[in-house]
Amino acid sequence: MRITAFNGSPRGKGSNTGVMVSEFLAGASAAGAETEQVFLSQKEIDHCMGCFRCWTATPGKCVINDDMTDLLERVMSSDLIVLATPLYVDDVSGIMKDFMDRLIPLADPHFEQDANGEWRHVKRFSSYPDIAVISNCGMPGRQHFQALQLHFKRMARNFHSKVTAEIYLDMGELLRNQVLILKPVIAMYKKSLRKAGGEVATDGVISPKTAAKLEKPLINGDMYIKEAHKHWDSELSKLSSS
Ligand SMILES: Cc1cc2nc3c(=O)[nH]c(=O)nc-3n(C[C@H](O)[C@H](O)[C@H](O)COP(=O)(O)O)c2cc1C
Repeated sequence: MRITAFNGSPRGKGSNTGVMVSEFLAGASAAGAETEQVFLSQKEIDHCMGCFRCWTATPGKCVINDDMTDLLERVMSSDLIVLATPLYVDDVSGIMKDFMDRLIPLADPHFEQDANGEWRHVKRFSSYPDIAVISNCGMPGRQHFQALQLHFKRMARNFHSKVTAEIYLDMGELLRNQVLILKPVIAMYKKSLRKAGGEVATDGVISPKTAAKLEKPLINGDMYIKEAHKHWDSELSKLSSS
């Protein structure tokens, strides 16, 4: 099984998203999958121009000459793509959105109705990779992922694909800025991420047991907010003392 993860954090390798993806892929790789993490922040990905020439002048190919040519090939040569993004304004990061917009050459311009009678584009290829979603956000509470989750579900429907695995982490900043006392909690969380990667590589899905572990909050939300306020107040006090 070939798994390619696309990391849409502007923080690239040092991102919380990167920590999550690396652990997930390590588990998948140990279970025999061929894995790769692509840092979209290191790639040249222009905005889609909306010209639709990928459907007319050069069917299946975008007329913009940038890194998306190679990335589209990597998408289509994967069995599973991991779309990994920090939560930005309740949705994907701008980098991830540009990447998703530029997947449009993979669809055929004609329309068809799905089993529910909803319109979508006709397939250009016989099959598309499944999608796994990995995301983290800054605030406590899993409800912050509501819009993002729906977005990926709808996107997968349009692309004749399906979301087969989802991992959402609130209070995600704890991954990078971990304090000593949290080390065991973070280590356990990383272990669950690796387990999830292994399960996806072997069974195609995350088991309910592992999913439950991944859904448990890392710490109490009130405690997190208290520490976050301390952090921001300390940053702001540097302004007044300079
Ligand atoms: C522009 C911007 C928008 C954000 N929007 C949200 C948001 O809507 N909800 C939230 O909980 N966190 C939000 N965050 C916080 C990030 O999701 C959080 O810092 C995350 O840990 C960053 O992950 P990364 O290190 O993988 O980039 C936002 C951050 C930025 C910079």
